[in-house]
Amino acid sequence: MLENSARSWAVVAITGQLIFATYVSVVYGKALAAGNMKGWNVAMPRGYVEGDTSGNITLGLHLLFAVVMLAGGAAQLAPWIRNRYPQFYRWNGRLYLGAAALMGVGGLYLLWVRGTVGGLGQHLGTTLNAVLLLLCAAMTLRHAIARRFRDHQRWALRLFLVTGGVWCFRISLMLILMIYRRPVGFDLKAFDGPLLTFLSFAQTLIPLAILELYLWARDRGTAMGKMAVAGLLIVLTLATAGGVAAATLGMWLPRM
Ligand code: HEM
Repeated sequence: MLENSARSWAVVAITGQLIFATYVSVVYGKALAAGNMKGWNVAMPRGYVEGDTSGNITLGLHLLFAVVMLAGGAAQLAPWIRNRYPQFYRWNGRLYLGAAALMGVGGLYLLWVRGTVGGLGQHLGTTLNAVLLLLCAAMTLRHAIARRFRDHQRWALRLFLVTGGVWCFRISLMLILMIYRRPVGFDLKAFDGPLLTFLSFAQTLIPLAILELYLWARDRGTAMGKMAVAGLLIVLTLATAGGVAAATLGMWLPRM
């Protein structure tokens, strides 16, 4: 039951992340191909900025590697790919780790140097995501080189969840907006408020805490413990499916 509930959550999450990757490719790729760089500003207040070459290039790479990570993470987690195409698994893994380093450092540049919407609390929450992204990537690589595959797998799972943090922020916010049908706990225009500050930390810390709970239940949990964590994962699978539906219908599809 525990394994099945974890697998169900992973299937829903990977589907949701692939939809997010499709949205990024279609919206930003189409604008780039048409030479309509202002099209990058559909979702971002500081997307394409005339004359800011370094910022625009950093943002372009950020979007490209976002797709690499969202799609690459899904492929990396599938056991049949690892078993049948080990060469692909190794190269995809290296690309994923390189992309994580670029997303972490590039994201910090976009956040603190170039500037974006949101208050200090949100910026600190997103910074925590970037720092943990870099840490998890380094630990995943370190254990792979040392051939400690059990630890390698644990850190790779943490890296996958931290990478999904910004996606988690979006689906959680859209689920809340779908339930309440109006902004609660934040100001839409300023894009700031306690809910957004909470979500910017929760996007990273809650998935990581639940992963630790799952690993504990899987390796050392009693039958009751396993059942309780499986129940929690079923609830989370339903909430994730709701959030993915809300973000897809309310945000990503209309922009595509
Ligand atoms: C690795 C996971 C990440 C993914 C998949 C990702 C994805 C994206 C996407 C798709 C956008 C465009 C906005 C949209 O259309 O929704 C974006 C923008 C942005 N990202 Fe990331 N991102 C990640 C990590 C980070 C990190 C760690 C930071 C900061 C430390 C960061 C900072 C930013 C900033 C500042 C923008 C511009 C937002 C604006 O000005 O409106 N990202 N990211």
